[in-house]
Amino acid sequence: AFIVTDNCIRCKYTDCVEVCPVDCFYEGPNFLAINPDECIDCALCEPECPANAIFSEDELPEDQEVFVELNQDLSQIWPNITEKKEALPDAAEWDGVEDKLEHLER
Ligand code: SF4
Ligand code: F3S
Repeated sequence: AFIVTDNCIRCKYTDCVEVCPVDCFYEGPNFLAINPDECIDCALCEPECPANAIFSEDELPEDQEVFVELNQDLSQIWPNITEKKEALPDAAEWDGVEDKLEHLER
């Protein structure tokens, strides 16, 4: 599956959701999660993310491994999102800030 990682937190640009053929993105307050059981590994979402926050699980950076379980768990409890919306208002300021996990809202 593809995994949404740290740099999505507090950005949430949502360009990714528009291209997903199986609509497997789920939306929290400041992060999105991919349901790994629904993702068909098409790779369409990866280049769409302006924050480069989406990785194939095979190419996941070592320090992002915690996000495998987070995508799995959060996609179970959050509502589905299929249409792009405005990014969070201070997305540009948070884009590229490292280790935003402490800011993840559930
Ligand atoms: Fe959706 Fe394809 Fe991205 Fe998986 S890889 S989340 S199926 S767009
Ligand atoms: Fe997040 Fe990138 Fe999608 S910032 S909402 S993974 S476009």
